[in-house]
Amino acid sequence: SLASRMHLKNMSPVLKRAFKKTNLNQKNIDYISVTNGPGLIPALIIGVQTAKTLSYALKKPLVGIHHIEGHIYANWLKKPIKLKTHKGKNNFKPWKPEFPMLCLVVSGGHTQIILMKRDLNYKILGETVDDAVGEAFDKVAKLLGVGYPGGPLIEKMAKIGNKNKFNFTRPMMNSGDYNFSFSGLKTAVLYEVRSQQNFLHDKRGLRGVESVEVSLDNQYKSDIAASFQQAVIDVLIYKTVKSAKKHKVKNIILGGGVSANKELQKQLSQKIKKEFPLCNFHFPYSKLTTDNALMISIAAYYRIKNNKEIGNWKSAKADANLKLK
Ligand code: KG4
Ligand code: ZN
Repeated sequence: SLASRMHLKNMSPVLKRAFKKTNLNQKNIDYISVTNGPGLIPALIIGVQTAKTLSYALKKPLVGIHHIEGHIYANWLKKPIKLKTHKGKNNFKPWKPEFPMLCLVVSGGHTQIILMKRDLNYKILGETVDDAVGEAFDKVAKLLGVGYPGGPLIEKMAKIGNKNKFNFTRPMMNSGDYNFSFSGLKTAVLYEVRSQQNFLHDKRGLRGVESVEVSLDNQYKSDIAASFQQAVIDVLIYKTVKSAKKHKVKNIILGGGVSANKELQKQLSQKIKKEFPLCNFHFPYSKLTTDNALMISIAAYYRIKNNKEIGNWKSAKADANLKLK
């Protein structure tokens, strides 16, 4: 209910600002698009209900988009659209990728390897069996007491950390499939941090004194961040490149909030160049890596172009468990 109240509070100001900045009005809007799932239903309902209202009031068709489809299609916009020069005309020049293509989607709720043989066609080759990667970044950041969202903070700390300091487990590396698991890795970090806290506690002569919390020093935290990040990157890269080779894909793309991670971008790019040089690698430009509305409208552009599931204000519905199809 807190999420839903925050959505409601922000909806009007965000819409007002968006309309003002883009010179959009009833005449130059063609369609309304909205994320209709998956996710937290109270939050989804606010978005879908707003889109239904706009669709009804402006008399425009309504296109529901799967959140992950949006993250994938964020890659189709190669340059930011300049709002100042936008006079209501469509100046979107989309990327024309070659298929088959492999998508590594890494966000706070998803970790998936998806094969695309053509536009809007998805086959999930593997996914996490427990926590999503972003979730693991957030939980480790919380353990280290550095705040939320954890991903960017862990990445920043990792820059001054030693990634070889702790040899954390590389979960499911040799499972033979393309699935992932990150909850064990998070627990390994928890055990390490607890044991360090106990060690510092005793060193200060506080053995038996329960209520005193000892703080971890910054270098230690940075070493944890770097070692954890490297364990995550190793597994993601290994499984992605393996499945890309198997399916002989022409492109590998990254999507989702964790795709903002520069170290992941750099190491995946290097690995592809070295082991699979015929394949191209892409990631969204930085503002489109984490959740945004533009990626939803780019995905809608392809749904509309392909005459797929264009609805109206009556047919749109939020679905917490929406499947990618
Ligand atoms: O896609 P997104 O914005 O929201 C969901 O759909 O979940 O992803 C958010 C997630 C958060 O868990 C956040 O910590 C993570 O993406 N994230 C990062 C980075 N920036 C955001 N993780 C690692 N490195 C980053 N630079
Ligand atoms: Zn997302």
